[in-house]
Amino acid sequence: MTYFLILGNNPSLSIAEISACLSNNIKKVKKVSEDFLILETKQEIEAKKLQKEMGGIVKIGEIKKEIFLTDFLKDKNLIPDFLEEEINNSSFLKNKIIFGFSFYGFKRKLETKETALIIKQKLKNKGISSRWISCSEKALSTVILKKNKVLEKGLEVCFFQDCQQVFLGKTLTCQPWEEYSQRDFGRPERSIEKGMIPPKLARIMINLGKESLKSCFLDPFCGSGTFVQEAFLMDFKSIIGTDKDEQSIIKAKKNLAWISKRENKSINHISLFRADVRKLSKKIRNQSISLIATEPYLGPLTIKEKGSFYLIKELSSLYEFAFKEFKALVKPQKKVVIIFPVLNTEKKQYFLPILDSLKNMGWQRESLINPVFLENKVIKMNNRSSIIYSRPEQKVLREIFVFKNI
Ligand SMILES: C[S@@+](CC[C@H](N)C(=O)[O-])C[C@H]1O[C@@H](n2cnc3c(N)ncnc32)[C@H](O)[C@@H]1O
Repeated sequence: MTYFLILGNNPSLSIAEISACLSNNIKKVKKVSEDFLILETKQEIEAKKLQKEMGGIVKIGEIKKEIFLTDFLKDKNLIPDFLEEEINNSSFLKNKIIFGFSFYGFKRKLETKETALIIKQKLKNKGISSRWISCSEKALSTVILKKNKVLEKGLEVCFFQDCQQVFLGKTLTCQPWEEYSQRDFGRPERSIEKGMIPPKLARIMINLGKESLKSCFLDPFCGSGTFVQEAFLMDFKSIIGTDKDEQSIIKAKKNLAWISKRENKSINHISLFRADVRKLSKKIRNQSISLIATEPYLGPLTIKEKGSFYLIKELSSLYEFAFKEFKALVKPQKKVVIIFPVLNTEKKQYFLPILDSLKNMGWQRESLINPVFLENKVIKMNNRSSIIYSRPEQKVLREIFVFKNI
């Protein structure tokens, strides 16, 4: 089977997540670009399940045809015939069909009005009314797809250009943007001053830990509980969230009560309490944790060149202490997925210089990307085997690592 996956804002991170979630199922990578990926899998994938699991993938669909670009541009009946065939093979109710097109890898948006009118006429001849959904961008967004019920009441056809080839695909599922938005902005407690990780990023990081048994999860800097919330939705059997700040624990408890009610699911297996990470091994049973995913204290939001040296020293000490404690808590061969701050001052970028000391403690850095993708220039890996996640204008960037307890 050949699939396309539309990547999120940080393609390297999306590919790291695909590497973790599809690991042994990837047969061949056919195309990697800034915004999409085409690959063959050994076994059929459950697209809806996978979409729900992953935080960094925008759409998943099936590639149905591969043709030459010249034929694609010349043959006016190609798209209408393809769409008709797909409609015939689909199970949705065929009283009013909604359809749309998206273009990826094309230099410009192709004019599709004429094609849409041919399709509408063809369907009308069969007694089926239809609605064509268009937009000014090259591709339909997930907001447009969801608001217009395109995937429930019809189909989105996606076209992918790869030099002289065009792939034609049909979208199977797309990211539930309203749910992520609710989990981010709709929860009762938020904490802008301490910083909150976007739920999508928290989910990607949990996936990078590849903890298939989902036994015992810990976020030792839980803040208002974003990782704990995602681990709960991902069905971890036991979940612990700790933070040294009492107010953060109160907020996390309120947020968890809210998500528990929304999901109608008990939170008896979640424990949230106040603890300094430097003394955590006295509070949690040793060698009981199967995955840590966390965003520790990253320093102040604004930084000056002058104070950077001392800040890096202070943060390095906190992180080294934390990893000493993690060594006692985390089971052998299990992982810590963690964010390090990168300070972006006017003059230079400062990274935490603690990789050697963590290695000496017995923490092995894991590669985030499956070797099948590594040659590709879309992947932005640095010599620290980490991926940087940032938003425009941010002064503190997030550097994502996976460490294994060896
Ligand atoms: C960036 S915030 C985490 C935000 C969280 N990921 C969320 O989405 O709400 C970092 C947290 O680390 C906590 N913290 C700082 N130093 C700590 C320490 N020594 N032990 C435990 N928690 C600490 C802070 O109270 C803060 O809540």
